[in-house]
Amino acid sequence: MDILGIDVGGTGIKAAIVTVETGTISVEKKRIPTPRPATPQAIAKVIQKIVKHFNWKGSVGCGFPTPLKHGKCMSGGNLHESWKDVDVAALFKNATGNEFTVVNDADAAGIAEINFGAGKDKKGVVIMITLGTGIGSAIFLDGKLLPNTEFGHLLNRHGDSFESYTADSARKREKLSQKKWGKRLDKYFDHLDFIMSPNLIIIGGGASKRVHKFINKIEVDTPIAPAEAENEAGIIGAAMAANSEIK
Ligand code: BGC
Repeated sequence: MDILGIDVGGTGIKAAIVTVETGTISVEKKRIPTPRPATPQAIAKVIQKIVKHFNWKGSVGCGFPTPLKHGKCMSGGNLHESWKDVDVAALFKNATGNEFTVVNDADAAGIAEINFGAGKDKKGVVIMITLGTGIGSAIFLDGKLLPNTEFGHLLNRHGDSFESYTADSARKREKLSQKKWGKRLDKYFDHLDFIMSPNLIIIGGGASKRVHKFINKIEVDTPIAPAEAENEAGIIGAAMAANSEIK
């Protein structure tokens, strides 16, 4: 079955039609920069444009960059504070007429990788960390997701969130070399490794296509693998979530 998958990010909103049984993208992707301020109205307009672009009449799966409880945003994340308590699926349905399933963006990326990518057939604890504008996390035990973990918001020893210090946006903002950034990542992964004892850590998000540039700075013993679908994992997993019970 084909489902429209949309990945709402802090910098770009990406979408494609996904064949959910195979986790593959069948039509060329569409990307629209995230409007600023990234208010509910502004994002709903972009979602409308995307649905129109694909002339999509069916259901839509959407990865969203905030934790969600009963479909409502628990925070505005890197978008806008006015998202708090908004029912995202209801807003987007109202804007487009389509049925929406909305899940956290990192959970979506993890769903794609655990089914078709670097986490396929992996038993035990698998953690996916997305490195982009923010840091997102997804954790699986024997392939089953525990949704809405927020490991990007763990604090480092200076009392700052790892996200503010270690996201890809921090690398860009502070103009860090891959080496310097890699050292920060090492501290982050070391902490994650200690508190969760995962069997595998998958790196997703915008940074997943250049893992080779910083991987030698990460010294944790646990295996680390880049997301096989790279930054498309979020789109694929969002569509898959619309087709499963993970809601
Ligand atoms: C949000 C997460 C999200 C991550 C990546 C964080 O700021 O709190 O929910 O998964 O950014 O977009």
